[in-house]
Amino acid sequence: MPNATITGWGKCMPPAVLTNADLATFLDTDDEWITSRTGIKERRISHVPLGELGYVSAARALACAGLEATDLDLIIFGTCSFDEQVPNMASGVQKRLGAVNAGAMDVNTACTSYLYGLTTASAMIRQGIIRNALVIGGELISPLMDWTNRNVAVLFGDGCAATVLQATDADEGVLADKLGCFGDVREILLVRGMGQRYANRGWHYGDTEWVFEGQEIFKRAVIGMSQACETVLGATGLGADGVDLVVPHQANLRIIEAVAKRAGVPMERTFVNVHRYGNMSAATVPVALVESLEDGRVKPQANLLLTGFGAGLTWSAHVVRWGARTHPLGASDVELPPLEKTALEIVRGHMAAKRGSREA
Ligand SMILES: CC(C)(COP(=O)(O)OP(=O)(O)OC[C@H]1O[C@@H](n2cnc3c(N)ncnc32)[C@H](O)[C@@H]1OP(=O)(O)O)[C@@H](O)C(=O)NCCC(=O)NCCS
Repeated sequence: MPNATITGWGKCMPPAVLTNADLATFLDTDDEWITSRTGIKERRISHVPLGELGYVSAARALACAGLEATDLDLIIFGTCSFDEQVPNMASGVQKRLGAVNAGAMDVNTACTSYLYGLTTASAMIRQGIIRNALVIGGELISPLMDWTNRNVAVLFGDGCAATVLQATDADEGVLADKLGCFGDVREILLVRGMGQRYANRGWHYGDTEWVFEGQEIFKRAVIGMSQACETVLGATGLGADGVDLVVPHQANLRIIEAVAKRAGVPMERTFVNVHRYGNMSAATVPVALVESLEDGRVKPQANLLLTGFGAGLTWSAHVVRWGARTHPLGASDVELPPLEKTALEIVRGHMAAKRGSREA
């Protein structure tokens, strides 16, 4: 049975930066509260639709792997903030890339969508159903955010990244995975206004209300991720000492510290970028993985522990053994269209649109 190894990686971060000070211009909050409770200093706000971020990430990941778009057998787009629900996001990337031989599906498990997609693609590679897959994790939360609610508005950001998985006979790639879900408490993280339940019932798309029980989510996140990490470390026989780098979901620095501590891996071997991007939901782990490579934190044959949690409440962990190559084979010249507004102007636009839809 072949293994599924990661041979390409690429990210696409929207350039507009929204700082904690920017948030304090329209919310009753401050940098000290946000930093001490979450570790977040700034986040990105996209000036383009999610499909654009997905396409640029995908083109970069393909060039990194040295593959042609026509080599792809499958594209998985992990997200809960699709541009349209029909048709799906993955088919848009298939069209833009010209990946005419690829099937295309979306996976929505909220913040763990990339990781659930990783399991789906690697299982299909191991079964011999496909050989080359593109797995994207991307999210555009800003148009769906309730910017009047300080409990959630300070936590999230936009972003996207993609990885290429290929069949290999080498002893590398996704070595173990564990998926789980605390469905019994699914209502503690709920976004009202997204979904057909609200259609034609006085809601306008994007006019959301967030139910968010922060402290309970925090507790469950630590329990779920720790349980999943224990399972995959046990299955591979690696143990904490065998982990070279933890690449966790980036929702809150205190959660990352608690999970690393429970896994027995010190923070020096745990990748953190939550201070720069906040919680980008499905994009956090792939963006962190790409940046781990860019920063030289992933060595050939390194054992990586990826772990995440999200609405549902879904949670997961993967052990990934890296291959010999930690540098891209090539680069793509695809870029985002130029930015013409500040992050604060984009957010103020979302707020005005929401007020407009409420008054309509
Ligand atoms: C959200 C979270 C940061 C809140 O931290 P906390 O220490 O639990 O804070 P609390 O909820 O107890 O709130 C404490 C106070 O701060 C206030 N507060 C909340 N948001 C605030 C903000 N942005 N700025 C200032 N004050 C804020 C609350 O109103 C509360 O005030 P009160 O005591 O007068 O009622 C934390 O619970 C958390 O990170 N949870 C996990 C969330 C997460 O990662 N979700 C990701 C889902 S994928």
